[in-house]
Amino acid sequence: MRKHWALLEPISVGKRVFKNRMVMAPMETRMNTPYGDVTQPMIDYYAERAKGGAAAIIIENSYIDNDASRSSLSSSGFYSDHLISGKSLLAESIKENGALAIIQLSHGGRQAGEAATGKQCVAPSPIPCKVTQRLPKELSIREIQTIEDAFADAARRAQMAGFDGVELHGAHGYLMATFISPYSNKRTDEYGGSAENRARFTANVIKKVREKTGQDFIVGLRISGEEFVPGGLNIKQACEFVMIIEDGIDYIHVSAGNYENSPEYMIMPMYEEAGKLLSLSEAMKKCVSIPVIAVGALDAELAEQAIKKGQADIAAFGRALIADPMLPNKVSSGKLKDIRPCCRGNEGCISRFFLAVPMRCEVNPACGRERDYRIVKTTEPKRILIAGGGPAGLETARLASLMGHDVTLYEKTDKLGGHLVEGTVSNFKNKTATLLEWLKTQIKNSNVKVYLNTAVTAELIKKEQPDVLILAVGSTYQEPPILGYEKAIFPDNALLSPQNKDKTIIVIGGGLIGSETALTLAETGARVTIVEMLGDIVPEHEPFSQDSIKRRLAKANVQIFTGHTVKEILDDGVVCTDSEGRQKQLAAQTVILATGLKPNTEEAEKLKGIVPDTYVIGDCKTARKIYNSFHEAWHTAMNL
Ligand SMILES: Cc1cc2nc3c(=O)[nH]c(=O)nc-3n(C[C@H](O)[C@H](O)[C@H](O)COP(=O)(O)O)c2cc1C
Ligand code: SF4
Repeated sequence: MRKHWALLEPISVGKRVFKNRMVMAPMETRMNTPYGDVTQPMIDYYAERAKGGAAAIIIENSYIDNDASRSSLSSSGFYSDHLISGKSLLAESIKENGALAIIQLSHGGRQAGEAATGKQCVAPSPIPCKVTQRLPKELSIREIQTIEDAFADAARRAQMAGFDGVELHGAHGYLMATFISPYSNKRTDEYGGSAENRARFTANVIKKVREKTGQDFIVGLRISGEEFVPGGLNIKQACEFVMIIEDGIDYIHVSAGNYENSPEYMIMPMYEEAGKLLSLSEAMKKCVSIPVIAVGALDAELAEQAIKKGQADIAAFGRALIADPMLPNKVSSGKLKDIRPCCRGNEGCISRFFLAVPMRCEVNPACGRERDYRIVKTTEPKRILIAGGGPAGLETARLASLMGHDVTLYEKTDKLGGHLVEGTVSNFKNKTATLLEWLKTQIKNSNVKVYLNTAVTAELIKKEQPDVLILAVGSTYQEPPILGYEKAIFPDNALLSPQNKDKTIIVIGGGLIGSETALTLAETGARVTIVEMLGDIVPEHEPFSQDSIKRRLAKANVQIFTGHTVKEILDDGVVCTDSEGRQKQLAAQTVILATGLKPNTEEAEKLKGIVPDTYVIGDCKTARKIYNSFHEAWHTAMNL
């Protein structure tokens, strides 16, 4: 009998009913026009998530005035009536696909992008955010009232555009949050000081929104349940605040943090514990009677437990729905193993935020390209031979088979997964491990013929005579020109051998592979030192993940020497020089070489030219990340 899922039960929110307990968290897509209007890719992206079965889609933060409210260059806007038309297409596409359409309204406050607004940022008090370092202008009472009115006008526009509701952005250190928090609100007038005064701005916004939109329109509020900065809003104060304004809103959405500690709480990278914000929604639930939405690295199982345990009424999924828009439908059809997991690598969703380019996803290349990247059955099935069972080969095989091609995949080792085999042993890589399992399950349930322990040779290709040859033969750990390198081992060997526990280890190379290897071994009991030539470690990561892994490395007592070059590997350690050329010797029982991967270009070159229609993809082109393997797999499959 199929399990009964609490996540699938409907729930009343204000005057409306959510068909289940799964909603999409607001996430900036950076697919807007320069004026904050919608684009077709953005509409397609949201429509796809609505189709996937979520009860409500909460559209990304949308700035409410054309003054200083825009938070970034690529934000969505709702500051003028001329945006109603485009936004109505967005609301329509969501509702036609079965979800309620809610849009988040926001004012960037002291975190607003001055590059985007061309104006000085504003705040309740002139206290700069420690990260942006911008000095905000203190708002006058008149200016505050104008902003309150702007929120109400934006809500009116949302209603006219056909949205079912709005979510007021009172979280993450933006304007509303800075009014609520004693950390950033030092006013001595009626907008500061006591809890009631700090709630006044939000309360007025809610009142003015209700006046313009009525009681049937959903008005939700997102807050940071804790800011996690000394002197910042804590959960007790957050509950007190919500109890003051509760009567005016239909739900409370409990996130956490602000830009001063964002990696730990706002958008948790893989090095942070999933679901650690549930204690906040749980505390909130004890204080209020409106529905409470929880968020924070939730997957279906974690969300289900949270609802069952009474830690939340509704679960918001952010990146999980970027990675797999169909998650809610897969929950309702009991196909949990088919959910493509978000691996929380932040490579595409957040990394591209810092580049101000549209959102992409490392495991779901169709994200943001929903119209072009459709899996359509072919009318001309081809025989496809794939060499290599790493992520690029597996994903191409999966797609080609879904498209109706006849696919055979050969892997020269006894395992599928390529570098994901050793790359998923760490506990913080559990979602990448699930991704590998997902790939294997999809292949197992498809028509792909898989041969392990079989290297593809020219003879094999000539015998098989495929129409298309795909070379995805991967990469190999680099042997650097360091004296004595043969005394060292590579990360795969180190990670897959339990005997490395309790040892003193030096990892040469503080890139992603080196740092993750060091962290994994340190957390299993080894004393680990990273020696890195450059001035910093993990430069490949976006800032949130970089901060997060550094903190965890420090907690695991990993010593890090940057600006140090290893000159020689000895039997009992290494000889290195620091940035000023001073020589030192570091002792270790094991030395690990994490100086990079080299593409298996020669192996691929040998097999080229036999089949006219040949593609070279993944690491054997250039050794890179999961992002590139998946994206090249999709690009290849879409062109078959
Ligand atoms: C690319 C991206 C953009 C985001 N933009 C917003 C936003 O516009 N408004 C907001 O309140 N939170 C935003 N967030 C935070 C998410 O709503 C969510 O709280 C966070 O990603 C944690 O949920 P998850 O672990 O399920 O992704 C964003 C997150 C991501 C990954
Ligand atoms: S890019 Fe990575 S972290 Fe972001 S949604 Fe996709 S899988 Fe998740």
